[in-house]
Formats: sequence, structure tokens, C-alpha cells
Amino acid sequence: MRTNEDHPGTDGYADRRDFLKYGLVAAGGVAASSLLATEPASAQAAAEGISPPSSIDDESYWKGIRTHFHIDPEVIYLNNGSLGVCPRPVTQAVYDGYVRMGTYGMEARWPLQEQIREARKECAAYLGASENEVVLTRNATQGLMHIANGIRMNRGDAVLMTTDEHIAGINPWRRRAERFGIDMHHVQIPSPPGSVDEVVALFEEAITPRTKVLFFCHITRGPGLLYPVRELSNMARERGIVSAVDGAQSPGMTPVDLHEMGCDLFATSLHKWSLTPPGTGCLYVREGFQDHFWPLSNGNGPWSDNERALWLVEPWGTHEYPIRAAIRPALSFLHSIGLDNIYARDRMLSDYLKERLNELPGIRLGTSRDHSLSSPGITSFEVEGWDAQLLRGILDGKARVRVSTDQGRNHDMIRVSTHFYNTPAEIDKLIDVFKEIL
Ligand SMILES: Cc1ncc(COP(=O)(O)O)c(C=O)c1O
Repeated sequence: MRTNEDHPGTDGYADRRDFLKYGLVAAGGVAASSLLATEPASAQAAAEGISPPSSIDDESYWKGIRTHFHIDPEVIYLNNGSLGVCPRPVTQAVYDGYVRMGTYGMEARWPLQEQIREARKECAAYLGASENEVVLTRNATQGLMHIANGIRMNRGDAVLMTTDEHIAGINPWRRRAERFGIDMHHVQIPSPPGSVDEVVALFEEAITPRTKVLFFCHITRGPGLLYPVRELSNMARERGIVSAVDGAQSPGMTPVDLHEMGCDLFATSLHKWSLTPPGTGCLYVREGFQDHFWPLSNGNGPWSDNERALWLVEPWGTHEYPIRAAIRPALSFLHSIGLDNIYARDRMLSDYLKERLNELPGIRLGTSRDHSLSSPGITSFEVEGWDAQLLRGILDGKARVRVSTDQGRNHDMIRVSTHFYNTPAEIDKLIDVFKEIL
């Protein structure tokens, strides 16, 4: 795949050589070196300076981690599945970036673009992909739009998806179906399902000769189901079917290794479990699939003969450089704690929550207790006789406990998202409030 570096001096990614050339010519080297000196080193160093825990249940360690967040101490934030909260090095990097842009105007863009180029490489490593397989997007929604419109399909072909897809995943397919005459087929997976084999078998039974694409979540937004991406992608590939995954909810709470998972396409947000600034995401297109993928956007550099190149997906024109540059300290923050430690901590918290929910009357879990089928960070459940939205309001009103809900598609569930910065004491508080009202 050709990269943006083939187009130095365009309005996309000009590289460091161009930046230096420009600076040296403009001011005998002064402009370039002063700008380089303002790179946001301190926020990055702060993110890298955190040590991993000695044990997952060492609450004093996690209390220390919590000091790196701005979270309102009066609030119990259990809604990371809607939006993650940025740690301080990340908000600092965003602030520093905009101050530099306010100080130097357009020239401040160059060092930020360097950071963005690094961020893209680091995202690829974070997701177990190669550098030329990943592009940065604004969010999962944007990546999902590129997926639904970028796969070659003919009139009468069908995409098979679950009944649990997020609206951001459904809408672009709906639009393509209306405009270009493809069909949308659906398979319903129980919440929770009984086994990985059951999930794969349900998909298999729903495939028809017209099925050209399998589209499903890695982790569902509502019931927090963990789908067996590798098994489903293998099954699809054996039948010549494309596998496309909505990964908005997974990186950051569960390890993601896209080469191992084997899907063709994967779109994710980074601003949920990876704690990057809102407005950041990633799209993965497997190397071997790139010749079958057609990005919707055109870039705004010189037209080339490789208009299908993946890099065209990235935002072009003037955009939010400091936001994207701050992906780096967010990933460094996670790596400093350790991705495996974060996974274990998230598992520990959601297992604890499930155990404590047993003490309440009328609870039906939508999330599986089986780790191979459940998200480590999302736990959803129905409370018999209660409207989930009403309960959500009561939790907030009584104790400022912030959760989300999953209503519709036969669900009426409270969704609790617990990430590593949450504590068992916060889960106890949630249970106390339920005990008061149920
Ligand atoms: C499964 C799923 N897909 C897509 C999205 C959309 O994500 P974004 O807001 O980052 O575009 C969400 C957001 O909650 C989601 O849960």
C-alpha cells in the first residue's frame, strides 16, 4: 500500500523532512528548532512514568491510579461503555497542543503531525496489526461507515448481522440497501448464549447463498456479549464470505490481536476503553483484503493512480491535530499499567459485580458469567418489574451513580460499565442503592 509519505507537501501528512526544510528556509533553522522544542514531552513522560501493580487486588495501587483522573469525587462513574474518561496526561497533551496552535498557528501543525504518525503506528501495534493496515478515524461510526460502503457488493447480495448491532453499525448498511439494492439479513443470538459453538452454529444456519458479508460486534454495546471473532471469521472465510467487525467496545478492556482474530475489517473507537480524547478511533483493513476495499473519501492531495489506498480514509483538510496527537499519551498510560493487568482488573470488578447482584431480588443477567462469552467491562441485567430508564434516573438522583441502559430489541436492561479506575467500594454503593429501592 502506498502511504501519505508519497505526497510530501500536500495538505495531509507532510513528513519531518519537509517540516525541517520549511523551517530552515523560513528562518535559518530558528523556526524549526523552536517549534520542535515545544513538543508535548511532559504529558507523554507523565503517561510513561506510571508503574504496573504488584497485584490486581492491591486497592492502594488503584487508588493511586485514580489520582491520575479528573473524575468528580462525588460521582460514581459506571458508564465507560458510553465514553471513557481521559487521564490527566491526555487532557494535558490536548491542552498543550491547542496552546501551541494558538501560539504558532499553522506551523504548530508539523510537530503534531509527527505525533499523529507515531500514534497510528502505536495503534497498529496495540491492535496486533501491521502499520499499513490501520488508519485513524474520528470514531467507530466513521470506520463503520467506510466498512459498509467500501466492500464490493452487487445488487441482491446480502449482509448477515445480529439483531444486537449498534445503530452506528446498522445505519450505513440500511442506506446502502436502500440505494443499491443489497439485503440485510438478521440472526438473533440469545443474551446470554450457552456456548461459543451455539453462537457459531446460529450464524451458520442463517447464511444463505446470497450472504457476502458477516457483520457483528466483538463486544456488544448492550448485553456485553463477547463474540468469538476468530471462529466466526474462519467460518466466513471457508465460505468465501467477508468478516467485518464492530470493535467499538473492545480495545482497552480486552486484548485485541487482529492478526490472530483473522477478521477482514475492524472498526473501533479509542475514546471508550482506551481513554483517548473524544473524537478518536481506528479502522483496520487486513492487508490481503485491501484490494477489495474502496475508501469513500478522496483526500485532498494530488490525485494518484491508487485511489483505493487505505490512507484515503483518514481525515483530510484542517482537522483536530492536538486531539489525535493525544492518542499517544493515552496508549502509553495503558501500557504503563499493563494491558493484561487492566484486563484482569476489569474481570475482577465485573465478576465481583455479578456476585453481588446475586443478593438482589428479581435480577436476570443478560451478560454471561462465562469469560469466553462475556465482556470484561460491561455487565447488563434486567430487574423484574422495573423500567431500566426509571432505575437509571433513581440511581443518579439518589447517589449520583451513573450507568446506562439497553432498551429495545427485546431488552430492558441496566448496563454497568466498570473499568480499572473503578473500585469494589463503588460497586458496593450501587448494590446499596438497589437494596434500598427493590
Ligand atoms: C458497539 C458500538 N458500535 C459503535 C458505537 C459508536 O461509537 P462512536 O460513538 O465512537 O462512533 C458504539 C458506541 O457506543 C458502540 O457501542
